[in-house]
Amino acid sequence: MPIREMNESDLPRILEIQQELAFQNWDEPQFAAELRANYALCVVYEADQSTPQVNGYAIFHLLGPDSELLSIAVSRDCQHKGIGKALLEAGLSRLSPKDKDRCFLEVREGNTTARQFYEKNGFKFFNKRKNYYSDGENACLYSLELESRIN
Ligand SMILES: CC(C)(COP(=O)(O)OP(=O)(O)OC[C@H]1O[C@@H](n2cnc3c(N)ncnc32)[C@H](O)[C@@H]1OP(=O)(O)O)[C@@H](O)C(=O)NCCC(=O)NCCS
Repeated sequence: MPIREMNESDLPRILEIQQELAFQNWDEPQFAAELRANYALCVVYEADQSTPQVNGYAIFHLLGPDSELLSIAVSRDCQHKGIGKALLEAGLSRLSPKDKDRCFLEVREGNTTARQFYEKNGFKFFNKRKNYYSDGENACLYSLELESRIN
């Protein structure tokens, strides 16, 4: 599978994808800190390894018996091809057994694309945080019971 762990040399391309999609505003030191954190799992999707080009990435945090999906993105011209699902699957399957109970995430209420993607992959909405983001938008909280995940 064309999924591997993220490394420092991927960061310019990760920032490019983030900027193209304008859904998040992390800077390079924030991504670099994720790479160094022993509780983080960072993966990238690179379709063609002969002419390497990262097309998507995902970052998970491992929190005792649970995990959290911090960020997932696929470059616009590569969306709707199953890359998001592949990144999600690969990340969840790499979590160690103690991290396998549930995976949580939060997403902007208005991000219907991501919400549909998460729901399609088994995540269940369970709560809303009002005015959660700095611009006042609500956050929707989702969780996935890993036994019942993606088939
Ligand atoms: C969410 C995201 C990662 C999905 O990646 P992807 O590679 O397109 O996902 P997949 O191909 O595995 O799954 C696609 C499914 O997700 C949903 N989806 C993806 N794009 C969609 C869109 N523009 N509108 C509605 N639903 C969409 C659909 O259910 C779709 O199924 P379909 O292709 O059969 O219609 C991608 O849309 C993305 O990068 N979005 C911008 C970044 C973002 O908002 N990330 C989440 C917040 S951290």
